[in-house]
Amino acid sequence: MTSALISNVDSVCFPARVRLSEKDTSLLQRAKAVLDSHWIEETTHPASQLYPHQWSWDSGFIAMGYAHYDQERAMQELRSLFEGQWKNGMLPHIVFRNWEQQGKTYCPGPEDWQVERSPYAPCHIPTSGIIQPPVHATTALHIYHHAHDQKRACDFLIELFPKLFAWHHYLYRERNPEQDGLIYIRHPWESGQDNSPLWDSVMQRMMLAPHRLPSHTHGHIRLVKADARSREEDELYLYLLKHAGDCGYDEALIQRDCPFLVQDVLFNTLLVKANQDLAAIATLLGFDAQPFEYWARQTATSMNAKLWNPFEGFYTSYDLVAEAQIPVCVASSFAPMYARIPRPEQSSEMVSHLFSSAFQGHSLGKWAVPSCSRQEMGFSPYLYWRGPIWMNLNWILHHGLRVSGFATEAEHLRQLTLRLLHRSGFCEYFHPDSGEGLGATQYSWSAALAIDLLLDCSS
Ligand code: GLC
Repeated sequence: MTSALISNVDSVCFPARVRLSEKDTSLLQRAKAVLDSHWIEETTHPASQLYPHQWSWDSGFIAMGYAHYDQERAMQELRSLFEGQWKNGMLPHIVFRNWEQQGKTYCPGPEDWQVERSPYAPCHIPTSGIIQPPVHATTALHIYHHAHDQKRACDFLIELFPKLFAWHHYLYRERNPEQDGLIYIRHPWESGQDNSPLWDSVMQRMMLAPHRLPSHTHGHIRLVKADARSREEDELYLYLLKHAGDCGYDEALIQRDCPFLVQDVLFNTLLVKANQDLAAIATLLGFDAQPFEYWARQTATSMNAKLWNPFEGFYTSYDLVAEAQIPVCVASSFAPMYARIPRPEQSSEMVSHLFSSAFQGHSLGKWAVPSCSRQEMGFSPYLYWRGPIWMNLNWILHHGLRVSGFATEAEHLRQLTLRLLHRSGFCEYFHPDSGEGLGATQYSWSAALAIDLLLDCSS
């Protein structure tokens, strides 16, 4: 196969240490072009039209891609995201940068969130009132490790460290009702896996007991895929966000009667990893790493005690309102390998699941990994998080396999993922049978994580 040094293609930007085929080199350049076209006013939006502002975990993944060739942009992506941080440490899931310029069309928009009812919301920039998974400390450390200017990277870590600390502290202070380090989410969108079958039982409970929900949910969510959500679901999503606003974003009040309170596997996994990485950052900067190591250990221990399902052999999210595990098997049920949470025998069980027909499909593993097991009732090959393949889940599983001693499987998944991108480009998500791209056609985190998968395979 013809090989080309990346430095032949773009000697200014890309490091020369990785050899890529011409095909992969072209994929890399196209990925970079997607990010370039979405970089507006110091931030990167996830997709033109569909997602025209700044999303929290998107920016975390996007900056991982930039870190390989543009350290300044990588740092700026996180910097601008943290401009939306609330005074209590909360990092909102959307920062409505360019709200006016983008025609104020995204819905729910700033006025729907009523964030002015919280004493902690920022006044200088509009934001949403919910969160997304905390990947940011992991991104910050990744930027440091790939920096060509170590001094600037170190200054950046010093600048970001108190903000990351405040963010994690918010989670352990406000979202940790049993003080066991298991953080709850209070809206399906906080998981990042918006309409996953994981939430079906909770949403059905809410639909079956409408008398328990105040009748204030009028309006609709524009710009979402009409086939991906039902009208009833939209009403419930809006109910939950209105409920938090009506409580003035007082977490104690919200907890009292919020019908959706879930300790999610993926969220808590990414938090464990982020705490491990924040501990590493603290050590680098000469600060005390122990608080972060403690948080990481506490959350991981509680995940093994409460979220591991020994009968099923995978991790399950926990419904705090019903006081029961949610026994639905999705790709993120195996995510804890990424933060080295399971013991080796638990990982082996999960790898058997992941490489079974439930996840690898009829075409002998041609396209993987569907976001939900094919054996689940709620599985659908084209509905958003109910079956389609998502690049960030593949990326997390690839790394999880790699750090858990499954190097061959990790490389297999990396190759499958790259093949999918070669076939269908940087779409938002992909049909797990045909490999067809779905949703937005140029999606930033698909491009950014492609860059990372292409260039970071040997680290
Ligand atoms: C979709 C995804 C969510 C992502 C957002 C912006 O809503 O479900 O995880 O953050 O798009 O890309």
